[in-house]
Amino acid sequence: MLNKNFDNILQKKVFQILLESVQRTDIESYLVGGVVRDHLLGRGKAKDIDVVAVGSGIELAKAVHQALPGARPIQVFKSYGTAMIQWEGITLEFVGARKESYTRESRNPKVISGTLEDDQNRRDFTVNALAVSLNPKNKGELIDPFNGLEDLEKSIIKTPLDPTITYTDDPLRMLRAIRFASQLNFKIENKSLSAIKENVERIYIISKERIVEELNKTLMTPKPSDGFLLLEQTGLLKNILPELIQLKGIEEIEGQTHKDNFYHTLEVVDNICKTTENLWLRWAALLHDIGKAPTKKFHPKIGWTFHGHEFIGSKMVYKLFKRLKMPLNEKMKYVQKLVMMSSRPIVISEDTVSDAAVRRLVFDAGEILEDLITLCEADITTKNPNRFRRYHNNFKIVRQKIVEVEERDRIRNFQPPVTGEMIMKYFNLKPCKEIGFIKEAIKEAILEGEIPNEYEAAFNLMLKKGNEIGLVADGE
Ligand code: CTP
Repeated sequence: MLNKNFDNILQKKVFQILLESVQRTDIESYLVGGVVRDHLLGRGKAKDIDVVAVGSGIELAKAVHQALPGARPIQVFKSYGTAMIQWEGITLEFVGARKESYTRESRNPKVISGTLEDDQNRRDFTVNALAVSLNPKNKGELIDPFNGLEDLEKSIIKTPLDPTITYTDDPLRMLRAIRFASQLNFKIENKSLSAIKENVERIYIISKERIVEELNKTLMTPKPSDGFLLLEQTGLLKNILPELIQLKGIEEIEGQTHKDNFYHTLEVVDNICKTTENLWLRWAALLHDIGKAPTKKFHPKIGWTFHGHEFIGSKMVYKLFKRLKMPLNEKMKYVQKLVMMSSRPIVISEDTVSDAAVRRLVFDAGEILEDLITLCEADITTKNPNRFRRYHNNFKIVRQKIVEVEERDRIRNFQPPVTGEMIMKYFNLKPCKEIGFIKEAIKEAILEGEIPNEYEAAFNLMLKKGNEIGLVADGE
């Protein structure tokens, strides 16, 4: 059931000010895009408000800005005829109604003023082309020239014009179509899907940043596999994330097969989305197996192996982030570390879980530990119910052990109880490799559980190890 009544939303302060400003300036204006679509679907919070003015969008924006107490300075983009206001967590964007003509080489259009109808024509999808009047004569009236309402009701993504025109005008829309399908659980109309398949190569004119923005939005949908399967079927994924396509397929040699790591990956992503809203953890799930394609080997005695895929995968994360102009910062390092360590908890959960293995895991994973276990739990995609139960149970044990080991041994953010300074002072040493040797021996002994993570035990081990390599205490 669509929520076709706009009266309640228009009661909100920001819309009241919009309505008053429209009346005062006498500039014919409409709400368009996501705010209308999401209100009809009963899913929006009206935080991003797009307004189209038949006339000067900038003039209207200035009038609205004046009437909004405490708004940040207005941003005006004269050459595009647009303006933006941010106020109390709400973003308002104003644009003059336009006809646009695009060239094949660029997605920067030549802007020519137009009517509301012209403006609706040039929009991406019928469900995004619905307009709601802000004008006194027909306030709240829905203007729907392309049966967007019907498409909303039928959950269909369809372009207002011939899809080839809409997608060649702005190829980013191919990714938007797929993102909306995944986000809203809609179907892309067949004609539209064919047009995407025919135009995939045009995605190259879109900036990497905008592509990534759409990938991020797709990853943030409740079931991203819907989107990623469409990306794969249309051929877009091959152009954007070929590393994932490489994971597709099952090979068989001497009757031995391995799982299809592409579909497995998508299952892992869907699983993790049930437990986290962390975009970067979702990225880690998407990329956790990318090293499997280049490391895949068949050994007649052991079957298929992917030795070192975690290490190779983490290197590939860097290349992929760089290629897509994604941030090469701590977010990328976080994804790399998760990929690098993605098999570690699995190994320790396979059999009896030893304290030493847990201590090492806690030490090596540090801050990412919880997320790493979450990733490993999402990685359980076996269809065998007994195994499924057993693996999940083992991770429960790992989680319990982590709590126990942490309470007892305080391994996370490990600070050695005997420091290099102390060793230098005690044996009267200048910086040298012997200090590292003793420090490492203490750390190893703590992680192996041979001594507790305490000063006295560590000090005694320092004496022992010092003696072994012929060091004497200062003053002896
Ligand atoms: N639009 C378009 N083509 C694009 C981007 C946007 O036609 N490549 C139009 C659509 O009418 C869209 C509106 O501009 O509804 C606003 O765009 P945007 O704010 O990016 O998207 P929303 O539809 O509002 O949805 P969301 O906020 O979820 O991205």
